[in-house]
Amino acid sequence: MISKKMTEALNGQINKEMYSAYLYMDMSAHCTYVGLSGFANWFMVQYQEEMSHAMKLYDYVNSQGEKVVLNAIEKPPGKFGTPLEMFEATLKHEQFITESIHGLVDLANEEKDYATQIFLQWFITEQIEEEANDNEMIAKLKLVGIDGNGLFMIDKELETRLFTPPAKE
Ligand SMILES: [Fe+2]
Ligand SMILES: [Fe+2]
Repeated sequence: MISKKMTEALNGQINKEMYSAYLYMDMSAHCTYVGLSGFANWFMVQYQEEMSHAMKLYDYVNSQGEKVVLNAIEKPPGKFGTPLEMFEATLKHEQFITESIHGLVDLANEEKDYATQIFLQWFITEQIEEEANDNEMIAKLKLVGIDGNGLFMIDKELETRLFTPPAKE
């Protein structure tokens, strides 16, 4: 059993994860358009990850006998800069998501909602990984700078990223 307030907050997080998916799908389209197929692949895998996060929350709300409420998904920017700028924007967005998850944990703690506290542990760990991946990409992109060959090498490397669905609890 979870409270109505908690349900509302979790539904809000579903929307944020859906927006994350939409944002990375948009970034993937941009990368394809400018010929960076490896980066496009990386962002498409990211899109799949975000969809799986939304579904994890969706399943949890359902399992608690509460109603999933879906709201409009905000329009993503549509225009992006260099790969470095895209990853800086990605990191900023993930930091916003991390704060949002922490807010949910605060609420679960306030309400002594032990089930949701445990459920959210997975997301806390996931956010550490998300931010680490972005920081690593930013460091690499800063290293190569405007060198076209370096960018081409990174693009080749990102071609190999595969989506692994998170394990079901
Ligand atoms: Fe996410
Ligand atoms: Fe994410």
